[in-house]
Amino acid sequence: MLSEKDFIFKNNSNELENGIFQWSSPSNIALVKYWGKKENQVPANPSISFTLNNCKTVTKLTFVKKETNNNFAFDLLFEGKSKEDFKPKILKFFERIFEYCPYLKDYHFTIDTHNTFPHSSGIASSASGMAALAMNVMSLEKILNPSMSDDYFYQKASFLARLGSGSACRSVKGSVVVWGKNDSISESSDLFGVEFSATIHENFNNYQDTILLVDKGEKQVSSTVGHDLMHNHPYAERRFEQAHDNLSKIKTVLENGNLDEFIQIVESEALTLHSMMMTSMPYFILMKPNTLKIINKIWKFRTETKIPVCFTLDAGANVHVLYPENVVNEVLQFIKNELVVYCQNGHYICDEIGSGSQLIMQ
Ligand code: DP6
Repeated sequence: MLSEKDFIFKNNSNELENGIFQWSSPSNIALVKYWGKKENQVPANPSISFTLNNCKTVTKLTFVKKETNNNFAFDLLFEGKSKEDFKPKILKFFERIFEYCPYLKDYHFTIDTHNTFPHSSGIASSASGMAALAMNVMSLEKILNPSMSDDYFYQKASFLARLGSGSACRSVKGSVVVWGKNDSISESSDLFGVEFSATIHENFNNYQDTILLVDKGEKQVSSTVGHDLMHNHPYAERRFEQAHDNLSKIKTVLENGNLDEFIQIVESEALTLHSMMMTSMPYFILMKPNTLKIINKIWKFRTETKIPVCFTLDAGANVHVLYPENVVNEVLQFIKNELVVYCQNGHYICDEIGSGSQLIMQ
């Protein structure tokens, strides 16, 4: 079992003056939700997600060795332009990982990043963004220490991404990723995401996720604040137990392909997440009237057609519509006919299960 200490960089076997890498990392959608955390980004309960394919952050990291060991600094470009307001979150990420990657202090970095989804879509880019940065950092580390194994490379990348944003550790490698210790998945860890190792039933091949953009505005309450409100939350302990149960149930469902049970677990998880928000102190609501209209339409469509389509929600108003590939035509027609009216400016994004981060340039 790896511990935090195993991720501390020991010593260089190589020198590196400068370089450039580029990675893309996808967003992911949780089926069993992470909501609540302990110190050092350790999750209060385990979670599992589908990795997405089209919604990605692409990040290029350029670095040169500094002459003197002065203060750590970096330049940040978003869509080619300097973006000061993204810097504090990235600086915090670097500060959290220095302990594990001390060599970072020897370099000056330029981070050049963009998303493949519209910036103001209300889709969180912290998971894909932090994962893409962590992948680049590990490419640098791999040059300093070429003997590291592939397993270690991806585990440490996920470990670092987690320190940037919890859900980012599920955007490193694999189509279905588990994060957080759970008895039914022996290799699971609180420190990094692991690829779901059992054989996934063919019902889930190319599973579709159409993201309905209900509200593209800035969220009133950030996830970080929401997680914090799970401390002293009246239902927290029971919720954390439920997430453990749902994880072991969904493990079986992913293996046996039972879509009715899949739908039940996934929709219940989404509504439970939002129930936790509504029962926090202070309480808050991130769903919008159109979120509920969409949910009701999906239920009606499913009852009438028996097509196994369901919804899930992130910490926001947008709705992820999940369904198998073999009903894509029927569901897209339904979305166009009945759900697009509830999307801001009629916008939605078609995505599906992907396989994780990809190296673009080294
Ligand atoms: C509702 O990973 O964004 O999407 O660790 O504070 O950065 P931080 O939070 P974040 O929380 C995401 C919560 C969620 C559920 C999930 O993805 O599991």
